[in-house]
Amino acid sequence: MIEIEHVTKQFQTKKGVVEALSDVSLTIEKGQIFGIVGYSGAGKSTLVRLINKLEKPTSGRVVIEGEDITRLGQQLLRKRRQNIGMIFQQFNLFRAKTVEDNIKYPLKLTKKYKKADIDKRVDELLQFVGLLDKKHDYPSQLSGGQKQRIGIARALATNPDILLCDEATSALDPETTDEILKLLKRINQELNITIVMITHEMEVVKSICDEVAVMEKGKIVEQNKVFELFTNPVHPTTKRFVHSVLNDDIPLEVDVRSRRLYRFIFNHQQILKPVLSQIGRQFDVDFNILYGGITELTDKLFGNLLIEAVGSDNRIQNALEELTRHGIQIKEVHGFEN
Ligand SMILES: Nc1ncnc2c1ncn2[C@@H]1O[C@H](COP(=O)(O)OP(=O)(O)OP(=O)(O)O)[C@@H](O)[C@H]1O
Ligand SMILES: [Mg+2]
Repeated sequence: MIEIEHVTKQFQTKKGVVEALSDVSLTIEKGQIFGIVGYSGAGKSTLVRLINKLEKPTSGRVVIEGEDITRLGQQLLRKRRQNIGMIFQQFNLFRAKTVEDNIKYPLKLTKKYKKADIDKRVDELLQFVGLLDKKHDYPSQLSGGQKQRIGIARALATNPDILLCDEATSALDPETTDEILKLLKRINQELNITIVMITHEMEVVKSICDEVAVMEKGKIVEQNKVFELFTNPVHPTTKRFVHSVLNDDIPLEVDVRSRRLYRFIFNHQQILKPVLSQIGRQFDVDFNILYGGITELTDKLFGNLLIEAVGSDNRIQNALEELTRHGIQIKEVHGFEN
């Protein structure tokens, strides 16, 4: 478990003090894929850099597995760092080293392994990321996706419990992003590694995260399980992020002023159509679907429909109450909501 307790981080600059993090508290459970989203300058990188102590908080504590890492001495710190791997947007591979030597680097640094063990481990890691045939290549000979796979192999070399990813897919095309995300999911599930994913891309959160925190101006403005965050965003920034992937604008040709419009949100277990027509018949209300979308989240599907209800106010009211009893979330839509 990673616990960030009331952490503030200030930087002294020529222009004065910059507060990158203001009283941030956050708990990341073991085994999760935890997303941290926010626009540029929100403080995301600063926050992960505190987790592997590349930065020291101005105040507050960072506790990993019950140990306050802000108080560790150099030697113990070096040891604990082996428990944390990190990958970056620009991959940060050593250009003058081969793939093999890049992966060997952290293993040699620990002085714990024999040469034969190091060689074996490198092959194992290359096998795991599917690039054994690139062992003797240099980074410049690899594609972006391949470079990131090597970055991942290097980060996993010392068998960490935690993998920190700072915009790890932001320099990659959508297809390659997908491959890397699948690899990260495998790492989480097969190796039981806790993953902290920093990103400004909601697609990334949507496809692999279990839980997510939204940051703005050095603060966490909202935190929730991914399904809850997507179906019920509260903070305006969260709404913007969620909206960026749902594509759920009201079609322009729909005149919202003269109609009774509702947004229905339901999960994949609820087979909506028969329920809609049955309840519609029962209460003599017509439900017209104006827009429909099914979104695939980490491990769930959720449906999001824009519905027009036609009937008397009273009948509509009763029908909506009945639908709510079936577990469907209903929000009335007034004018342009986005
Ligand atoms: N070493 C530093 N010295 C001075 N200011 C810094 C330093 N590192 C970060 N900052 C400032 O702290 C704030 C947060 O920066 P940070 O890099 O954590 O943001 P971010 O959310 O990772 O942004 P991006 O999405 O652009 O990577 C910014 O205003 C930045 O200018
Ligand atoms: Mg950053």
